[in-house]
This record gives sequence, C-alpha cells and structure tokens, in this order.
Amino acid sequence: MTPTTLPHALLRRATDALGSSFYAYDLDGLAAHLGELQAGPARLWYAVKANPLSAVIQTLAEAGFGFDVASPGELDQVLAQGVCPSRILNTGPVKTPAMLRHFLERGVRIFVLESHRQLTDLATLCEQTGIQVEVLFRVQLSWPKQDDGKINVLGGSDATPFGLTPEQWDPECTTLPPSMTLLGVHCFQWGNILDADTLIAHWQAALPRLARLLDRWQLEAPVVDLGGGLGIPYHGESETLDWTRVVEALTTLKRQYRLGQCWLELGRYAVGPYGYYLSPVADIKENQGVRFAVIEGGSQHALRPALTGQPFPVAALDTTQGPMQPYQIRGALCTGLDNLGDVQLPAGLQPGHWLCFGQAGAYGFTESMPYFLCHTLPAEITLSNGEYQVLRPAKAAQHYLA
Ligand SMILES: Cc1ncc(COP(=O)(O)O)c(C=O)c1O
Repeated sequence: MTPTTLPHALLRRATDALGSSFYAYDLDGLAAHLGELQAGPARLWYAVKANPLSAVIQTLAEAGFGFDVASPGELDQVLAQGVCPSRILNTGPVKTPAMLRHFLERGVRIFVLESHRQLTDLATLCEQTGIQVEVLFRVQLSWPKQDDGKINVLGGSDATPFGLTPEQWDPECTTLPPSMTLLGVHCFQWGNILDADTLIAHWQAALPRLARLLDRWQLEAPVVDLGGGLGIPYHGESETLDWTRVVEALTTLKRQYRLGQCWLELGRYAVGPYGYYLSPVADIKENQGVRFAVIEGGSQHALRPALTGQPFPVAALDTTQGPMQPYQIRGALCTGLDNLGDVQLPAGLQPGHWLCFGQAGAYGFTESMPYFLCHTLPAEITLSNGEYQVLRPAKAAQHYLA
C-alpha cells in the first residue's frame, strides 16, 4: 500500500497564507490509494462518518465506492455531490420514522436493520408508499470478554445497541413483509485493527455463526457486510495493515461460505492517512517537570486523542533544530482533558512554529467539539496537483453563536 509522504512545501505555503489552524486533505494520494483498494474481491462502501467533506466524497465516488450514511445530514451531503441514491445504504442505531421517510423520499433502497422496531417502521412506510427495499440484518455476536485495556470504538465483546443477536434475527422471531428482500447480514464489532491476523481471526470466527443464520433464511448467494475496522498506525505505531492478507482472507471466506458478495464499509483505512491537522504553537512552558507545547487549536478541532488516549502522529513543520525531547501537547480548552498526547519533538520548537498531525483524514474535524469555548473553527483545504484550495475558511464564533 502506498505510504503517505508529507507534502511539506505545499503545507508550508498554506500555513503562511491561512495563519490559523486547519485541516488539509491530499486528494491525489487518496485517489491512488482508493484505486488499489478497488482491485480487491469486496464491494466497497465508504462510511461517510469518517469524513463527510465534499471533495473527499467526490474522490470516493470517482473511485467507484458506494456510500454508507448514518444520518439525513450525511445522506444530503452525499447526494449534493451528485451521487445516485442507488449507490447509498443506510446503517445506524437510530432510524426514526421521520429519518426513514427522508431516506425513502430521496431514493435510498438499501437498509441495514438494527432492531425489530426499525424493521416495523420501515415496513409501515413501504406499505404506505408502495416502495420495495433491500435489507441486511445487523448481527451482534457474543464474544469471550476481552479486557486488554484498549478502547474499542465499536464495542468489541461488550453489549452495544448495534444490531441484534442471531437468535433474535432467526425466522422464528423475525417476519419480513413482502416489501422487503433480505440480501444478507452485517456484522462489525471491532474497530481500528492494525494486525491482519487479528482482523482475519475475527472474521473467521464470525462467519460460521453468520452462515448458520443465513441458512435459516435459505438465502442463495447472500451478502455478508463485515463493516470497517481496518486499522491505521497512530502515534508510536509503525506497522501498516497488510492489505494483501486481507484480500486473500476475503477471497477464501467468500468461496468457503458460498457468499454472493462480501461488502466492506471502510472509513479510517480509506481516508485516514490522507489528512493532516495543522496548528501553530502558542506557548512552550514547563510545570512540575513536564514540558508543554500549547497549540492554538486543540481538542475542539481534533478530539480523537482525548477520546481514545491515542495521539495522532505529529511532526514539527518548521524546525528540526536540537535533539528530540518529550513534550506534552495541550490545546486551548480550559480542561485537563484537552490533551493531544506525549510525544517527541525537536528542542528548537518555538511559539509560532507549526505542528502537523498525521492520520487525521478520518474522525478529525466532524468528530470533535468545535463550539466549546467559542474558539474559531478550523479551515478545511484540499491539496491536489501541487496546489491547495480552501473549501471552508476558518470561521469565528460569531458565525455559529445564536
Ligand atoms: C456501521 C459502520 N460501518 C463502517 C464504519 C467505519 O469503520 P472504520 O472507520 O473502522 O473503517 C463505522 C464506524 O464507526 C460504522 O459504525
């Protein structure tokens, strides 16, 4: 898989011009990466929650991806990029009747059902409108309890509201109306897995249990949607997921369980490595033996490190002076939670120098809490053909305060 190299000169130009924190997305690198992913055996969908920026969606659309949307907002953003609704499916633990109507009215016809209530509400709307839909059951499997100290954003072995157990989806407990065609099942409980063996072991353990449910429904050539969960290396991690192993495993599972199609809904692995968050250093200081680099931005722009305890990898854009030494990166929020991690940076780091955080193309800006303390929203820019383009300039709080 293509490693990302920092587009240093272009980012320097952008920092000079913009002057305050921003996100940058390398569209050329992204397009090349997506082309490599499309060569695999799975039908690929993009989980829009990872990054709903218009230009990112357009790049995914050009690469032939479908779109997994979890809200009317995501749906409308994808449609606004000219994507045909036949390329869109809806997954998510909340689908109110109003949301389902919104999806149906805009042409979405594939739904991943997460509960019997969702099934009943969708059936009622289909009956009222005469619309036919295709559905997958989202299955939650029980796993031996794992407590490895890692936060699993999808729940892992914990009970979550995502989907129902295979027993609850059994034909004894679930009735499908004539307006619904069952395509198959969806199962996704483990996020951000970097090690191919671990990822494949989860799939291998899930498939026999999913296949039993599919047999009960007597589906020929069913779809199994394995979600996302393919990891990328954050701070302190250097290995990348072995995509060749993933392709081999999917090919084998597809044949072994006679699947019609295997689907993946990629978020992090599709776009994460192609985004950067940049913020200038506002202050350097030392308290109680800890050296702080305090940046102009922080968790209001990039919340993920505070949520997961896993820093983005970071580099100083303007200096390599002096030996590397430990810094704790803090932001502009008046809370100890605004911590972007303990990292090594050059001793020559000064206020006014810029820090560049990598792997920020997924779960960056829209996963954050941009309104807290009424700071300025970061700009979002794209990089392509050696130029940058500002899609949204930085916005002061007066733009959103009522
Ligand atoms: C239903 C669903 N599909 C796909 C994804 C994307 O996961 P990832 O970013 O691990 O690829 C998510 C992420 O939360 C999700 O909830």
